[in-house]
Formats: sequence, structure tokens, C-alpha cells
Amino acid sequence: MQRPRLLITRRLPEAVHERLRNSYDVTANPDDLPSDREALGRALREFDALVPTITDRFDTDLLNAAPFRTRVIANFGAGVEHIDLDAARRANIVVTNTPGALTEATAEIALLLMLMAARRAGEGERLLRAGLWHGWAPTQLLGQDLRGKTLGLIGFGRIARETARRARALLDVRVAYHSRSRASVEDEEALGATYHHSLAALLAASDIVSLHCPGGAATRHLLDRQALQCMKPSAILINTARGSVVDESALAEALSRGVIAAAGLDVYEGEPAVHAALLKLENVVLLPHLGSATLQTRTAMGMRAADNLDAFFSGKTPPNRVA
Ligand code: 8YV
Repeated sequence: MQRPRLLITRRLPEAVHERLRNSYDVTANPDDLPSDREALGRALREFDALVPTITDRFDTDLLNAAPFRTRVIANFGAGVEHIDLDAARRANIVVTNTPGALTEATAEIALLLMLMAARRAGEGERLLRAGLWHGWAPTQLLGQDLRGKTLGLIGFGRIARETARRARALLDVRVAYHSRSRASVEDEEALGATYHHSLAALLAASDIVSLHCPGGAATRHLLDRQALQCMKPSAILINTARGSVVDESALAEALSRGVIAAAGLDVYEGEPAVHAALLKLENVVLLPHLGSATLQTRTAMGMRAADNLDAFFSGKTPPNRVA
């Protein structure tokens, strides 16, 4: 029997390629360059299965051009807002993702950003590398203690809870959250988490606000000028979720006017572009989407994508089907 034709759009950890080569007729991308629209359209016509990443945009127009040969898209990553799931359903394409595989790694990046923003680590490193550090001084680069502060989570899924668990253990913070639906009493008690029914109340009560909601139309610019104004002037905003959740120009303005104290960002609305005003500010830490960037995690994500493909091609429901 012929093996399914599989396209892996970017270079994944070698162990993942090796596993996939055992069961599929694999075409890889040796240059590791993002595919353009035309290449993705061709891929949908020529391959039975695709393993894409966040850099591949399967929008409505692209997916509306069915019929396709592709029957399954096993996304390498948890977030799938770069794929129009309704259009995929109409084109009879099953879509899967890789939740769970990147929970710990992403929580670690959230903590890293909290500490970097609170302790002005990026600013300090830039100063030192520029040859402008003239020696220790008692009031130089003073940051904020996080101990005893309130960490406000927006969203209360896996990554939010792991971030809260680690932040409590490491930084001794209190936890509050806002999400569309309230968690069970047991889940709240496990983290000592206080639920806020309204976003504005959560923002007003928090010293650190960390975003953990999915991207997409429902959360686009949830943190806009008005929302940022609800935050404390001493507050820190952390985004490891999706860039689209924050209005970047409103954030840059809030950071430069002292509406909030600092921010730590790992994701951007127009990745890899970063809003020009943010690049000029000292009180924002900017990371290049490193949330899941460890070899172990990226390998686990690839293995999860392979599990989904294997289930699909053996006639079972893939464990992480999202469409
Ligand atoms: C991934 C992520 O690296 O999985 C996600 O949702 O944001 C990242 O950690 C990226 O999306 C891979 O496609």
C-alpha cells in the first residue's frame, strides 16, 4: 500500500522527522523558509497530510479553493488561529493541534518575563553591553519585589494554571483570574485563586497581569487603551498567548506615559514585525516567540503531531482534533 504523502513545512527536531519518515512519504523543507500562499495552495493539492506551524496561514480564501488532496492538517503547536477551522471543515480537512506538550515550557517563559520586567533585566543588559555601566550604585536600576503581589491571569487553561503554580512556588504571589467560565471550587482552591467576574475588576486588582487566552476574533485587542487604564500604574503586563490580544500601539502609549510600569512580551500581532514604538521603550522586555523553544518541548510537540497523524490514518479519531 502506498504511504500517505506528507509535507512538513518547517524544519522540526530530527527525532520527529525520523519518526515521520518511518510511516509517511515525507517531503521536508531543507531551507526552513516560511511558505508563501501559493506554495500552501499547492501543498493542499499535492499532499495527503500537512504538518504546518504558526508561520503558515490557511485563511478562508485559501481553504475555500477546494477540492484538495489534503485530508488532515496536524498543526505543530497549540494555537490554531492561523487556520480557519470552519473553512477547513467545509473542505473536509481534519485539523489537530498539540496541547499539553508545551505547557511547562510556556509557563517558564511567562515567569522569565515577569522577573525580567520586574527587575529591569533587559535594560540592565543593554546598558552593560553598550559600555555604559560605570559601576554599582545604591539606587541604580531599581525594580520591584514580586513577593506577596497579585498575579492576575486572563484565561485559566493549562498554561495559566501551570504559570500560577510555578509563580506561587517561586515568587510567593497570590493568584486571581478572569475567564469566560469559572473553574471548579477544587481547581480554584488548588491554586488559592480568586475569580473575578469582570475583566476590569481583575485588571484593577492585579500587580502582574498574564495573558493566557486563545487568539482570534473573540479576544482581539482585549487589552486595549481602556483596559490598560484599568491597571495599576505599578502593574506589569505579560503576554505569552497571542499578540492579537493586545493593542500594541495602546500598550506602547501606556508604557511611555506611565499608565502601567512595564511589560514582557513573547508574541506580537504582526510577527515577526514588532510595533516600532515598543522597540524604542526601555520598560518592555521583547522576546522572539520563545514560549515552547526547548529541544524537549519542540520534540514532544512533533511527536504529538505524529500521534494525531497516526490515529487519523489508522481510521481513529485523532486525540487532539480541533476541526
Ligand atoms: C509554537 C505556540 O512554537 O503552540 C503554540 O501555540 O505559540 C508556540 O509555542 C508555535 O505556535 C508553533 O507553531
